[in-house]
Amino acid sequence: MPIKGVLRPGHVAIRVLDLEEAVKHYTSIVGLREVARDGRGRVFLKAWDEWEHHSVILREAGQAGIDYMGWRVTSPEVMKQLSLDIIESGLCSDCKWLPAGDDPGTGERFSFVIPTGHTMELYAEKEMIASEVGYLNPEPWPEHGVIGMSPTRFDHCLLYGDDIDGTTKLFTEVLGFDLSEKVVDKNDGSLAGAFFACANKAHDVAFIRYPEKGKLHHISFFLDSWNDVLRAADLISMNNVSLDIGPTRHGITRGTTIYFFDPSGNRNEVFCGGYIQYPDKPVIHWDLDELGKGIFYHTRQLNEAFLTVVT
Ligand SMILES: [Fe+2]
Repeated sequence: MPIKGVLRPGHVAIRVLDLEEAVKHYTSIVGLREVARDGRGRVFLKAWDEWEHHSVILREAGQAGIDYMGWRVTSPEVMKQLSLDIIESGLCSDCKWLPAGDDPGTGERFSFVIPTGHTMELYAEKEMIASEVGYLNPEPWPEHGVIGMSPTRFDHCLLYGDDIDGTTKLFTEVLGFDLSEKVVDKNDGSLAGAFFACANKAHDVAFIRYPEKGKLHHISFFLDSWNDVLRAADLISMNNVSLDIGPTRHGITRGTTIYFFDPSGNRNEVFCGGYIQYPDKPVIHWDLDELGKGIFYHTRQLNEAFLTVVT
């Protein structure tokens, strides 16, 4: 499909309560690689099959949660045009340019706060590090690099916030995303959840309506198979990681999944599967009273943590 300017989610920056404990979790259990540390005490990580400098940023703070999510766009020219479109839309606040190098290995970024209160940013340039299997006659996975769950990439975030309608308008009308699935309260027709795709994945970011702005439900990493999800579940028990739910399947996006928590309480997901999104696919509609089935397809019930535990 034609990519309309935004290529993919490129990075997520999260806050953790104890940096070294978090580094240990995201490296030895999740299986990311530590790439760099900067003068501000932040740690930069990537998955083995990602080619850019980093995809996860950890910052120690007094409260867990998300600082920002970064989107790779096709070129600096597209980024400039999108920045003008974002400002002109009037939907975002605190729009600003951040200089190249402010995040290691990363070019200029355009940062903005969306209606649900989350900080998003666009970037067009990031240092290439390369997949650990390279690009010349590559092996399918790094023989000596399988650590922890070993996801191939950072995949998406589920975010909670209040103004889902404004955020939907921004992602679909300004940033050119498809609305792949939506959750609607049939009592009043209001939108309770929205899943957005910038390319061919079933979703690259999703939002659930919540009274507070700027909340993180989970950051998600991609695994190749259902068997890898089961293996991740085993690692969760082996390492006494706090389990939320799973392994199970989502009705929404059809992914197979497991949710767990990092030591600071940020929810993580590893998953596999999901359909291919094309822009002419009709939007999948879920009634809010079927959300249990949409989120946890087998039990058909939302657990209390899904609705209330966010950072
Ligand atoms: Fe997810």
